[in-house]
Amino acid sequence: RGVPAGRVSVLPADLADEEDRGRAVAAALAPGRVDILVNNAATVEPLGPTDGIKAGDLRLAFEVNVIAPAALTAAVLPGMLEAGWGRVVNVSSGIVANPAGMVRGNAYATTKAALEAHTVNLAAELRGTGVTVNAYRPGGVDTAMQAWIRRQDPEHIGSGLHERFNRNYAEGTLITPEYSAAALLALLAGDDTGAIWDVSTAPVGA
Ligand SMILES: NC(=O)c1ccc[n+]([C@@H]2O[C@H](COP(=O)([O-])OP(=O)(O)OC[C@H]3O[C@@H](n4cnc5c(N)ncnc54)[C@H](OP(=O)(O)O)[C@@H]3O)[C@@H](O)[C@H]2O)c1
Repeated sequence: RGVPAGRVSVLPADLADEEDRGRAVAAALAPGRVDILVNNAATVEPLGPTDGIKAGDLRLAFEVNVIAPAALTAAVLPGMLEAGWGRVVNVSSGIVANPAGMVRGNAYATTKAALEAHTVNLAAELRGTGVTVNAYRPGGVDTAMQAWIRRQDPEHIGSGLHERFNRNYAEGTLITPEYSAAALLALLAGDDTGAIWDVSTAPVGA
C-alpha cells in the first residue's frame, strides 16, 4: 500500500490478554517512543438480548474496547510526555450519540460510551502537555465487522438490526476503510484535544 518495505512492523497480540498486550507494548517501545497511537481494534460482540448476555462476555468486550485502549495509552504516555508531543486516537462509534439506534448491541454501545468518556477525561488531564487525545467515529465502513453482523441470525440479533445492516450494504451506503482513514489523518494534523471527531464532519476525505 505504498509504504516502503522495512518501514512497517506487525506485532500480533490478543489485546484481551494482559500479558500478550504487555509483550506487544514492550516490542513497540523497544526502538524508542510511540508518537501516534490509534486504538482501532474492537469487538461488536456479544450481540443479542441483554438478559442473555453472560457477565464474562460483557467483561471481554470491556477488556478489548475500553481497558486495552486505556492500557496501551498509559504505556506510551510517558514517552509522549517526555517528548512534549503525542497523538492518541480512540476509534469510537456513532452509536454513542444514539445508543437506542442499536437495540441488542448493548455491550457495544456501553463500551464505546465508556471509551469516549475516558478520552475526554484524559484529554482534560493532559491539556497543555502537547499530547492530544481524541475519539473518532469512523462512519458506516465496509469491513469484516459489518459482514459479520449481516451474517448473524435475525432471531438472535433482532430483525431490525439485521435488516438495517443488510440494507445499508445493499444500498451501497457504506464507505471504504481508506476513505475513513484519510479523513482521520486530516484531523490528526491539527491540535484539537478532547474532541469527538466524526467522519461526516471531517474537513477532508479521500
Ligand atoms: N465498520 C463500521 O461500520 C464501524 C462503525 C463504527 C465504528 N467502528 C469501529 O471501527 C473500528 C474498526 O472496526 P472494523 O469495522 O474494522 O472491525 P473489524 O472488521 O471487526 O476489525 C476489528 C479489528 O480489531 C481486531 N481485534 C478484535 N479483537 C481483538 C483482540 N482481542 N486483540 C487484537 N485485535 C483484536 C481484529 O483483529 P482480527 O482480525 O485479528 O480479529 C480486527 O483487526 C472499531 O473500533 C469499530 O468499533 C466500525
